[in-house]
Amino acid sequence: MKTSSFRFWSCPATGLPLIDDGRDFRSATEEAMVYPKVGGVPWLFPDPKFVLSHWRERIDLFLESRTHEIEELKSSIKSAASPNTKSRLEILRQSKITQLELLKKVLDPMKPGTKLSLPKKQAFGYRLPFNQGLLGYFPNMARDWAVGQTGFSQENKTLLDAVLAIIPESAKTSMAASERNIAVLGCGAGRLPYDIANQFPKSHVVAVDLNPLLLLAAQQLNSGAKLKGIFPTVSPKDRMKPAIEVDLAAPKGPAKNLEFAFADVYALPFQPSSFDLVITPWLVDILPRHFSLLTSSIAQIVKPSGLWINSGAWAFNFQNEEDNLSLLEAEEVGTATGWTPLTSRIVETAYLQSEVDAHRRFETMTTFAWERTEAAVPYDSRARVTDKIEWLSNPSLPIPRLPAFAQSIESLSTMTWVLSQVDGHRTLTDLVKILSEQSGLEPEASRDALESFFDRYLKDRTFRERT
Ligand SMILES: C[S@@+](CC[C@H](N)C(=O)[O-])C[C@H]1O[C@@H](n2cnc3c(N)ncnc32)[C@H](O)[C@@H]1O
Repeated sequence: MKTSSFRFWSCPATGLPLIDDGRDFRSATEEAMVYPKVGGVPWLFPDPKFVLSHWRERIDLFLESRTHEIEELKSSIKSAASPNTKSRLEILRQSKITQLELLKKVLDPMKPGTKLSLPKKQAFGYRLPFNQGLLGYFPNMARDWAVGQTGFSQENKTLLDAVLAIIPESAKTSMAASERNIAVLGCGAGRLPYDIANQFPKSHVVAVDLNPLLLLAAQQLNSGAKLKGIFPTVSPKDRMKPAIEVDLAAPKGPAKNLEFAFADVYALPFQPSSFDLVITPWLVDILPRHFSLLTSSIAQIVKPSGLWINSGAWAFNFQNEEDNLSLLEAEEVGTATGWTPLTSRIVETAYLQSEVDAHRRFETMTTFAWERTEAAVPYDSRARVTDKIEWLSNPSLPIPRLPAFAQSIESLSTMTWVLSQVDGHRTLTDLVKILSEQSGLEPEASRDALESFFDRYLKDRTFRERT
């Protein structure tokens, strides 16, 4: 198997240097630390076995439910009275089949039964961020790699241009002239690192993400694969066009100076001061932790005088308002964690727009360039990364009576009681009688309450949740 030409890998749990022996990544000094490759991409999470089995569970569940949906559509097509309905559902079914085939193909290296099928064991208390689903950024894959889609190409170019424009000229000149190390964190389906690798062919680009669908697709496309995909519409203009069928390919063929790694930005598998430049495209505001943890994590891996370029939405959405930082506050955080903010810019862009969508999305990209200072930044992101709540980790601590719990008790217990009375035989009249007896409500009031409960309960499920 091909070995990595990047020399700065390190164990995300202990920080010890890692060596690629072709098959796996292993610690140079400690035999026990072995990190597998999945589809040729190193799987460098602090708890590789646990994370692998977690993703596999998600993938199995997803593929199963999608297969079931496609089956259900088949029966709906059979029973539909109108030939127009039949053909609309058939088109929808076909696009779901194309998507399922793409997912099966791209995710094939994740399948159980290979040597990576290891027991579930949570050695470091590490777990995947709960909000990162398999298909959360699926449309990005088509935006990044669809052949002949000029709108998407323009979106990719706008991001590349914004990043290039904010890199100081002196840094661009040195990256063009000699070998430099560049990391792209949260790279998604990988178009920006591909474009950067082509822009600076002497540099070495490492692209990191934790989503197997996006990163395996990026790896396969950058190895010359051609894939058939779809761009699903958020809200189709015409129901006969629920998605665009696209061919996916790397436009300039494989970029040889680009490699990929599965990793978490809070436990980066790189030796200190490995990079001249780190780029975070559309990442910072979707992360579940305070911005300062990212700034100090990135500070570990950037050389003094090296750069951090950020570009993307600035739309933090934490429950705690204090954490929804303005750029000015973020710069204060940066200054305290090893950075000198240099410059920032706002760039407007179309975002995942397609001619088949009724909606048009525009976004504002906040782009900044920060320079790493000489200061050492204490941040032990390598050891035991966990966002587990204290009283979950330590079972002898009392569970606090949070206001959110109290609010839920009343509504959930009423709902549970009503639903538990439904046995397939009782009528609404039976339930009214039981509720009146138990609660002392007048029968008429009980009936109103039950009617409104069932009505809302079922109608709330009429609409699909937007993802
Ligand atoms: C909004 S998407 C942007 C993707 C890509 N940069 C783009 O512009 O299309 C955010 C990306 O960050 C990745 N991500 C989220 N949390 C991460 C983490 N803790 N470590 C590494 N990647 C992460 C997601 O899998 C996703 O690909």
